[in-house]
Amino acid sequence: MEPPSSLTRSKSDDSFLSILSAREEKSLLPAPVHQKPKIRVRTLLSHCLYRRVILWSAGIIFLLYLALSSPGAQQRRQRLLDLVDFRNDDASSTGNKAAVPTADDEGVVFVVSMGDTQQAPVQGEYMPTWLRFRHLDGFFNGLKALVPASEHVPEFPRTSGEPSPFPLTLSYTGLPTPTPYVSQPDYQSPEYHAVEKCYLDTAGKIPVPDLYAYNGVVQGQPEPAMGSRNLLGLRDDVCFDRFGRYGPYGLGYSFEEGGAFVGTDTEQDGSSTVWEKTGKINYENMDWGDAQTRCYESNKKRFVEPAAPTRTAAASSKPHQRSFVSHERQKIPRKAVVIRAYVGFQWTQHTILNFRALISELSLKSGGEYAVHFLLHVRNNNEAIWADPMTAQRILDENIPKEFHGLCTLWSEAQMRLYYPGRFGVSYQNPSGGDIHGVYRSAHFPLQHFAMQHPEYDHFWNWELDMRWLGDYYELFDRLGAWAREQSRNELWERSAKYYIPSYHGSWEDFTSLVHNETLDSGREAIFGPAQFPGRQSVRSELRGESFMPSNCDPNNKSDAGCGVGEEADLITLNPLFDTENSGWVFAADVTGYKRSLPLPPRRCSIITASRLSRRLLTVMHEETWRLKHTMFAEMYPATMALHHGLKAVYAPHPVYLDREWEVEEIDRAFNGGRDHTAGGHGSPYDLNNEHNHKGSSWYYNSEFAGLLWRRWLGYAQYDGRGRNGGRLGEGQVRGGKEEEERGDGTGRLCLRSMLVHPIKWEHPSELD
Ligand SMILES: *[C@@H]1O[C@H](CO)[C@@H](O)[C@H](O)[C@H]1NC(C)=O
Ligand SMILES: *[C@@H]1O[C@H](CO)[C@@H](O)[C@H](O)[C@H]1NC(C)=O
Repeated sequence: MEPPSSLTRSKSDDSFLSILSAREEKSLLPAPVHQKPKIRVRTLLSHCLYRRVILWSAGIIFLLYLALSSPGAQQRRQRLLDLVDFRNDDASSTGNKAAVPTADDEGVVFVVSMGDTQQAPVQGEYMPTWLRFRHLDGFFNGLKALVPASEHVPEFPRTSGEPSPFPLTLSYTGLPTPTPYVSQPDYQSPEYHAVEKCYLDTAGKIPVPDLYAYNGVVQGQPEPAMGSRNLLGLRDDVCFDRFGRYGPYGLGYSFEEGGAFVGTDTEQDGSSTVWEKTGKINYENMDWGDAQTRCYESNKKRFVEPAAPTRTAAASSKPHQRSFVSHERQKIPRKAVVIRAYVGFQWTQHTILNFRALISELSLKSGGEYAVHFLLHVRNNNEAIWADPMTAQRILDENIPKEFHGLCTLWSEAQMRLYYPGRFGVSYQNPSGGDIHGVYRSAHFPLQHFAMQHPEYDHFWNWELDMRWLGDYYELFDRLGAWAREQSRNELWERSAKYYIPSYHGSWEDFTSLVHNETLDSGREAIFGPAQFPGRQSVRSELRGESFMPSNCDPNNKSDAGCGVGEEADLITLNPLFDTENSGWVFAADVTGYKRSLPLPPRRCSIITASRLSRRLLTVMHEETWRLKHTMFAEMYPATMALHHGLKAVYAPHPVYLDREWEVEEIDRAFNGGRDHTAGGHGSPYDLNNEHNHKGSSWYYNSEFAGLLWRRWLGYAQYDGRGRNGGRLGEGQVRGGKEEEERGDGTGRLCLRSMLVHPIKWEHPSELD
């Protein structure tokens, strides 16, 4: 949508704007102060025009020379490149352009990794600390090295003197056998209404298959650098290979058999176990929309009745009333998973497999507790997508695999302009130069609209096409929700502002205590309830005297540890909720509609828009947008609205890996290096100059490691990114893949514990052609 040339321009716009605003501030000062230097300069250069021209020219040349030769200039050029990279990458994930398979290689050039790890850095050149750390090997061993979780010795973290798990002693000659993996609750227990089983077909003959896991962990496999499975209630003692994960959905068998073909071109020893119970399911004429509707219909009695459609923000923002009639089992609210899709996206067999898994595990296996939707962005504003069903069908035919058509909702930016009319006022800054109704800055608009149109859902997971969960989707979403519900509001914003690094912080209790101490030391008040700031405006429910705080919380007692426990979270994010003020994050001041004579309102943000938003948060966002004409850059708006109105927001520390053996102090320094030991403010890891730290992470928009690890796990050979250009994708040795996994002295195919990976821009090697 935006040509690359505008990307570089936007950077200069950015600095131009900051100069402008600085000038504007200055002009508020008394005039004499402002003009004094001018006079002095003139006196210095005398009135002779000839001399003035020469002096000015010499001065300019000298300044140019200084600017170009200073060490800062190199950094500024690098910042520029990083910004371009950021926007390239994000553009593809937010739908501004089709995913380019080589984006990892070309779009995200890692500028600071040019140095050789083996050589001392050239004098004056910036060398990131982490490039000195050794690459970890333990991710890449396979099933033949599986051990019971109790015997697992991780390669990371390790204190000096601890024995290394390498070289591996293989306990297996053959292969272990996987078993069905079920993460849903026991639906036959009295706690639940009997859940009607759901089927893939109309005749009710093909039950939704189980995925398979291996009991145990591959020896040596590292522990996550950030976050914790145990803490969130995710199982830590099993691992998944590609066939157990995706085989039930079509990986590893031919199109003729109704499979996805991919996987047949990889090592597949012993993979047939996963089809023993169900056979190879034929997905050829699958209709997921129909299956989802049937599943919900047969389970309707389990769920809270939806209220009338929420058309305006005046409608109640209170959560649904639950039925607590004692003789009746409790009805539960439903949740939606909304996947942001866009025209022009190249659907592949691997992408299809992933969404078959997501729909099966979340929607069909849960008896309709979750529903999956694709929100399809139609970029051509001139398409008559509401007037003409045939137009809508043509767009679906051209852009979405047939099996998912029944799950799609179409939208366009023209629609958002109509839905959120009027003038939005001037933005403090607009580094991207984008339109306020454009998806790049306001991806939340269509989600707000979707929520207003779907009163049957209480919570909405915002999800994207290039994310993968290596594990069971129900387990992920259910456990994150349950964990977030149990979190106290006491110092919750403060805990959420930091990465939890177990190897450095110790237990979660230690972490909680540390955050408490650091909050005291910072001299800042812990956040509790709605934020107060100059120019704050209330939403209608607040004007009526209602509050978003739970009724059992004492609003005057910030140390009430029980406050919020048991309360569903309004916002769950998968990266810390950081303070964008002075953070160096590019879009920190992309804030619109507030009085520009006042300071910027307090803001929070979480990078990567994958998150769960409650209906009441989306209702607040909706009202702030249409009535108060407020909005902010997409990743900042939900968290900031939660902050302003006292909603419950929480960062869930899910397991995130780093590809190298970082010193644990260094992880903390790099990722919690912001103000008061958080991820926000000055020194933030989201500062353009610090973002390189995420290159080796399994979950960050500029990560190179996520794709590399994922493709190795899928069974395709990859450059290992090691050697002379340490840390750079597409270089080093080719490792993994069919030949290596099939070798007699090898360890077989990869088996990894559950984790999120992002961004996955391509999967099958043929996508590189
Ligand atoms: C926090 O401070 C208290 C009191 O000084 C101390 O006992 C405790 O160990 C500190 N917690 C952490 C994690 O540093
Ligand atoms: C605030 O709550 C804490 C923990 O629940 C309690 O110990 C304390 O006494 C309360 N303080 C006041 C002033 O009510």
